[in-house]
Amino acid sequence: MSECAAGGTWEARWQAGDTPWDLGAAAPAVAAALREGPLANGPRRVLVPGAGAGHDAIALARAGHAVVALDIAATAVARARETIAAAGASVDVVHGDLLVGDAKRAGPFDVVFEHTCFCALDPADRERYVDAVADVLVPGGALVAVLWEHGRDGGPPYDIAGDLISSWFARRFQEVGRIDLPPFERRPGVERLVTFTLAPEGGLPVA
Ligand SMILES: C[S@@+](CC[C@H](N)C(=O)[O-])C[C@H]1O[C@@H](n2cnc3c(N)ncnc32)[C@H](O)[C@@H]1O
Repeated sequence: MSECAAGGTWEARWQAGDTPWDLGAAAPAVAAALREGPLANGPRRVLVPGAGAGHDAIALARAGHAVVALDIAATAVARARETIAAAGASVDVVHGDLLVGDAKRAGPFDVVFEHTCFCALDPADRERYVDAVADVLVPGGALVAVLWEHGRDGGPPYDIAGDLISSWFARRFQEVGRIDLPPFERRPGVERLVTFTLAPEGGLPVA
């Protein structure tokens, strides 16, 4: 389960310092997410899955949310704890695998904030990801996701084409908002901030 689709394990990549995704700061999308939508008001209980070094989790905690950062790689967890302590922030860091339900012991959550976890997973695991996120949310809870359409084959990160987003999430979620984020150097293509709410129990009505 800890296999990285690029080869080896996530832990091995963290140990080797092979972490090109790490921006060294919160993603610009976090500021947009804090301006409107379910993270604009709070405090909320927020899960950040695949949190890496914890930059996004710190920004969300500084905005007043009660944040849990989850990562499968022990070295990422150690790095996140260091980064969080250095920032003087308050974030719980959990070592575990989202796909087997390890976030549940820290939940439930009002909001899941997703940034470069979904796109990092083997696409064969996407249904399990959607179920794992849905299963840690309270009724009416929200998924706020930064989804990157880079248009390239292969991965990770795997492409997240805008016109396919609803087909991956619609089984458990209803899309309620989508904005294109301003382009930024490290992410050529289109990056979107997409907000979903959990479908009512029993699923959404068939159109
Ligand atoms: C591309 S990195 C992004 C890290 C962070 N979100 C960032 O943008 O800096 C993906 C992260 O997800 C973690 N990860 C991969 N599969 C996971 C899983 N099943 N459960 C929890 N974390 C996972 C990896 O260890 C890695 O830190």
